[in-house]
Amino acid sequence: MTYQITVNGESQIVAAAPETPLLYVLRNDLGLNGPKFGCGLGQCGACAALVGGKLVRTCSMALRDVGGDPIVTLEGLGTVQKLHPLQQAFIEEQAAQCGYCSNGMIMAAKALLDRNPKPSDEEIRDALADQLCRCGVHNRVVRAVRKVAMEQMR
Ligand code: FES
Ligand code: FES
Repeated sequence: MTYQITVNGESQIVAAAPETPLLYVLRNDLGLNGPKFGCGLGQCGACAALVGGKLVRTCSMALRDVGGDPIVTLEGLGTVQKLHPLQQAFIEEQAAQCGYCSNGMIMAAKALLDRNPKPSDEEIRDALADQLCRCGVHNRVVRAVRKVAMEQMR
């Protein structure tokens, strides 16, 4: 079947079976490698993107369920020339070791700051609690998100 989806502001036509995980479409059909394949079971958060403004584990969302909701991936946040404030803060705070979890961390932080521009430390930790990191950079990630939140408060 063919589906029309909107990804990072662009309309795309993709041909795939209805049950195809959105993650596969993003990575394999559209070449968007920001979202990572971690567990494939909805447990790690590495594949996260925003769908209709909500944080979604794209390995666990079937293409047929996307509907008309716009999708935003890591590639839709900033560019190398003009980084998103979260991307800039992650670099400044060195909030990645292997970097495999960074996509999910940044997208979860984006979802948080979109709904709550001035989160407390506890709210930041809560929002990131289900994003797994095997390298243990959680404290740096929290610092990076806090930095962006503080800048937004000015
Ligand atoms: S790859 Fe989707 S939650 Fe782990
Ligand atoms: S930096 Fe390696 S999994 Fe988080």
